[in-house]
Amino acid sequence: MAHSVSPPGAAPGNHGDIQLPARLRTGHREPVLIRREAARDIAVIHAITAAAFSRPGQSPGQDPPEAGLVGELRASPAWLPHLSLVAVTAADEVIGHVLCTRGHAGTVPVLALGPLTVRPDRQRRGVGSALMHAILGAADALGEPLVALLGEPAYYRRFGFRPAADYQITPPRPGWHLHFQVRVLTAYQPWMHGMFAYPEPFDRT
Ligand SMILES: CC(C)(COP(=O)(O)OP(=O)(O)OC[C@H]1O[C@@H](n2cnc3c(N)ncnc32)[C@H](O)[C@@H]1OP(=O)(O)O)[C@@H](O)C(=O)NCCC(=O)NCCS
Repeated sequence: MAHSVSPPGAAPGNHGDIQLPARLRTGHREPVLIRREAARDIAVIHAITAAAFSRPGQSPGQDPPEAGLVGELRASPAWLPHLSLVAVTAADEVIGHVLCTRGHAGTVPVLALGPLTVRPDRQRRGVGSALMHAILGAADALGEPLVALLGEPAYYRRFGFRPAADYQITPPRPGWHLHFQVRVLTAYQPWMHGMFAYPEPFDRT
């Protein structure tokens, strides 16, 4: 049976009932804080990335490539320590992670976002959204012009991502065009376009 509430300040029954969206009826928002990654978080980030990207049929003990990618990025010149963020509970337990590393659109230094990860038992509670809003705000505050990613448009369009082709930014692989997206930030200018280049560790994933 659907739950319903009256609008704030309304006399019950005067204006009819308001139907809440399904996710507000059935789920709950996870209260999280977002902070920079610390050295003590590295093993947990690896574990939640491996869990979130695990695939059916994966051999036991074998991590998905995304888990190794984060470690390779951390060791690469493209690593930006101020743009690796974790979502933590009130007890400082890490339950999500997002990062941006240095990519290029043509010759312009821009950001490559990913992987974005939420621990499987904490998904669909707003943690991924909190991480995305935090990292986009941080990137904008740092004067970065744009963020590019490869992902599901149905998820990322809510954060302002649009097809990269709208900005004349082409993916490194032509087959990616439907999923390759860009979010422009305040410092973006229309002359910033060209072929997108990911940091080198992505080439091995
Ligand atoms: C994608 C991911 C980070 C989202 O985190 P989350 O905390 O579950 O996201 P939120 O709670 O903020 O948002 C949930 C919404 O996103 C939607 N969503 C999640 N993954 C989606 C996808 N691949 N495509 C479309 N929508 C998606 C859910 O349906 C839900 O929609 P609703 O709010 O309308 O019900 C998380 O599901 C995850 O870690 N997945 C595995 C790793 C992954 O695929 N990462 C992204 C690629 S780098």
